[in-house]
Amino acid sequence: MKTQLTQDLGIAKEALEKGHVIGVPTETVYGLASNALNIAAVAKIFEIKGRPSNNPLILHCLDRENAAPFIMEFHDELALLSSKFCPGPLTLLVPKSERVPEIITAGSDRVAIRFPAHPMLRALLETLPFPLAAPSANQYGGVSPTLAPQVLEQLMGKIPWILDGGPCEYGLESTIVGVENNKIVVYRLGSITLDELSVVLGYIPELKNNAASNPQAPGMVKYHYAPHTPLHYFQQNEALKLDSGYIFLHKIPEGFPPQQCMVLSISGMPQEIARNLYRVLIEMDSKGFKALYIEKPAPEGLGLTLIDRLNRATAKFS
Ligand code: TXA
Ligand code: MG
Repeated sequence: MKTQLTQDLGIAKEALEKGHVIGVPTETVYGLASNALNIAAVAKIFEIKGRPSNNPLILHCLDRENAAPFIMEFHDELALLSSKFCPGPLTLLVPKSERVPEIITAGSDRVAIRFPAHPMLRALLETLPFPLAAPSANQYGGVSPTLAPQVLEQLMGKIPWILDGGPCEYGLESTIVGVENNKIVVYRLGSITLDELSVVLGYIPELKNNAASNPQAPGMVKYHYAPHTPLHYFQQNEALKLDSGYIFLHKIPEGFPPQQCMVLSISGMPQEIARNLYRVLIEMDSKGFKALYIEKPAPEGLGLTLIDRLNRATAKFS
């Protein structure tokens, strides 16, 4: 199969109606989307990604009205968060209606719903009579692409089209929340920070984002988001190795040759570091280095999400 980039919504719509899986832009990372109500089309997503079938998918809908047939009940705490953050990078775990196919939720009685903010994806959803099931557009366990050409590199020959909506604004996956005992619980740290949620909620939501403690989000496995090249944290006073690549948050330390280094953000702004992280990881992964070293962000705000991803990405190599 030939894989092509396009900006034509008509082509994307037609492919989805035919039951194809296509790449789509979102404000977080690129997704691998199909008609969520077509079970054969959804099954192809698992096959293409190499993803275990016990790992459920997020349902992407235009708005609450479009999502209503798939939701049994919408808790007030989730309504509060969605009024503040949606459309945007927040995914809500809600009790599902019987219209949600089993394959989407992997047998759970809750479905993950997200209202994406990316204008091109919203324009597409407006023309579709069905929601989209979409995981991130990486091979299972790998780094999520945030640029259409990087989706092409990972999925060439496996899907017909990638809708090119430019670079993703946030660069990290959505934050996943649900309700337990009438309080918000965070199952995956993401683009919306704990601080941002706390301000709206008036309390700090509990974080349950470990595979062991968290059967709710089985995708939060210990090893994930990893490049092929062994990735390690850069330790203070790490000696320069000539066969290694280095990723710094803000500035290249003295003595490190620029051709072995990339910087995540000239400004040092956490949002910019987040936006560039996956793109830079994928780029450095392709340069033939024997190992990669990355500077650890400060553990606050978006830094907590960055560290969550990097801990999983480096765990595979430690
Ligand atoms: O930003 C995002 O959320 C991106 C874009 C494409 O929307 N999507 C994304 O999907 O990150 P994925 O499949 O790569 O990660 C979704 C996570 C997985 O860890 C999965 O286990 C969890 O959400 N999840 C999905 N449905 C669930 C459910 N019903 N119950 C518990 N966890 C669920
Ligand atoms: Mg993913």
